[in-house]
This record gives sequence, C-alpha cells and structure tokens, in this order.
Amino acid sequence: HHLGDKEMWIRRLWPSVPHAHSRLFSQMECVSASPDVLVTRRICSSLMEHLIEERQFACWDSEDPMPRDVLLKECVGKSGILCTLNDKIDLELLNTCGEQLRVVSTMSVGVDHINVEECERRGIRVFFTPNLTETTAELAASLLLAVNRRLVESERAVRSGEWGAWKPEWLLGRDIFQSTVGVYGLGRIGEHFARIMLGFSPQKILYSGGRGRKPEAEERLRKLSGGTIPVQYVEDFNEFLASCDVVSNHCAYTSSTHHLFNEAAFQAMKSSAVLINTGRGKHVDQEALVHALQSGAIAGAGLDVTDPEPLPTDHPLLDLPTCLITPHIGSASIQTRRNMAQLALHQLDQGLQ
Ligand code: DGY
Repeated sequence: HHLGDKEMWIRRLWPSVPHAHSRLFSQMECVSASPDVLVTRRICSSLMEHLIEERQFACWDSEDPMPRDVLLKECVGKSGILCTLNDKIDLELLNTCGEQLRVVSTMSVGVDHINVEECERRGIRVFFTPNLTETTAELAASLLLAVNRRLVESERAVRSGEWGAWKPEWLLGRDIFQSTVGVYGLGRIGEHFARIMLGFSPQKILYSGGRGRKPEAEERLRKLSGGTIPVQYVEDFNEFLASCDVVSNHCAYTSSTHHLFNEAAFQAMKSSAVLINTGRGKHVDQEALVHALQSGAIAGAGLDVTDPEPLPTDHPLLDLPTCLITPHIGSASIQTRRNMAQLALHQLDQGLQ
C-alpha cells in the first residue's frame, strides 16, 4: 500500500491508528472504514493529534467548506459532527444523518446555522465556542478607530500621491474621547468592547438590547473607571440609537434581531454616528445601510460581517469611502482560532463519552 501525501497527513494527525485501517476519499480523510465522527473542515491539525487518538474520525481535508451534497452523504451514520458556521445543521441534515447522532460541536460562538430547537427535541447536545470574546471585541474596536479616523482613506491618499502639504481641514475624523459609545447587546463580547472603550475616556457608555439591564456587568465596568464614566442601560431602542455617537452591535442573531439595523434605525441615529457590526451580516438591512451612508443619514460603518459572505466585489457598499468592510475575521487571531478548535474538539469528545 503506497503512502501518498494524504496518508502522511493522516499519520500525522492520528499516529496511534494503524494505517491499514486508513481509507482515502477524494477530499475526505478517514482513519477507519466506519468513522463515527465527522469533522467538516481541516481545523487545527496539531491539536487533533494530541487530543483525540482513540476515536474514529472522518475529516474534510480542506480550508473550504464541504459542498452540501458531500456533507449530506458523509454525515450519514455519524454520532458526532464538528462543524463550522458554514455548515447548515438543519432539519434535512438531521434527518439524513440518522438517529445515532448525539453531538454537534461547532467551532463558533454563533449557532444560527444550527437548528438548536430540533437538536434539543432529539436529545442531540449542541456545543459552541465562546472563547473568542477579547479577540472579537478587539476587532470591533479596530473597525471603530479605523472608520472614525478614516484610516483606509488616509492610507489610500498616501499611496495615490494625494498627500500634499499638511492641511488644517484634511481627513478630519471623530474622537471616541468624550463621545457617547453605544453597545447593543452587553454580553461577553459587548462587555469586553465596553472595557476597551473605557480606555478612550468616552463621556459615557450606553447599552441596550439583549436580556435587559445587566447590573453586574455595569458594576464591573463602573469599577474599572473608578466610577468616572457612567454606564447606563437604555431600554428604548430608538432613544438608545438617537443618543449614541457610535453603535456597536454585539447581540446574537435570531429571527427577532433580523435586520435590526434598518431604515428606521438609521433615521433614528445621529447623522454623525457610526455603526460597527461584528455580529452577523443579517443584523443589518444592507440596502438601507447603502442609502443611509449615501444620503448622510449616518456618517460611517465598519462591518466584519455581510450578507451574503463573501460580499460580491461590485456591491455598492464597496464604493462608499465611509464604509470599511473586513472578511469575517472577528475571531481570527492565531491564539484564539487555536483555542476555538481545541474547545470544539474537546467538547465533541466529552459530549460523546
Ligand atoms: C462565530 O464564532 O460565530 C464567529 O462569527 C466566527 O468566529
């Protein structure tokens, strides 16, 4: 039996598994003829080697998602699936998979790609990876600074030769200092974003959404600033929007937060305000956002998520200098992606015990 590159890869991942049991698919890596776990992506090979040596795995050996038809074929008979946010774990998949499925472990904090209710009904345990908090909040802060201080336009001006003499009124942006920062959804990520913001000495931090007032989070933030920067809950969405210079979205995506930021929301916001979204693309009505930016209803937007993803390169948002878009890199730090892969694998393994 010839040891090809792919088989070498398997040997690296699962050194304890005798290679006689390996079987190769076109793009599937398998350690056994009847693996009971499906890993839908090449996630973090060095970890897989250490963590799980006993289980029988099938892994989609690619950086790209499994095509739907392959996923539907390969999930059949598995007891565990480790997926990413690109894999729809919906009714069709659950039905196709079979009754033996016990665990779905997603390498993401978002679970909007999973029919969680149906999983619960069937007794399938769903695990997610909330250990990306600081990394995602840091990206939201980066987007805010970049949009507020017009970093992309500035950098382009340097490259294009537009940079002439120093000018008193060229490329003027906005401060976080003494502004009102709005956090929509003061959960783990929202709270960490607020912590970062405190370092910029805003006038106050307002928050809204989620499950109402969060006295404990408020207290933690209050202590950090020694009580010098008020942190206040605003129940009414429109009042919240109208009061903020920055609105950063950190809520979960559900049917009730679909297109939360729509035309009415942009009308309620200050014309000098900026929207930051590191949640899900569908939180924002993009057509309304294009109009809001074009008409000056709001001043700018920083988006790490869009609808669809990837955003077509001819999308009107990309023609707007006031809009900065990054390709869903909220959790993309070396350490955090490693931690997420580790947690997803660990939970999968634990869930199957
Ligand atoms: C998530 O985890 O849900 C993010 O969107 C990607 O890290």
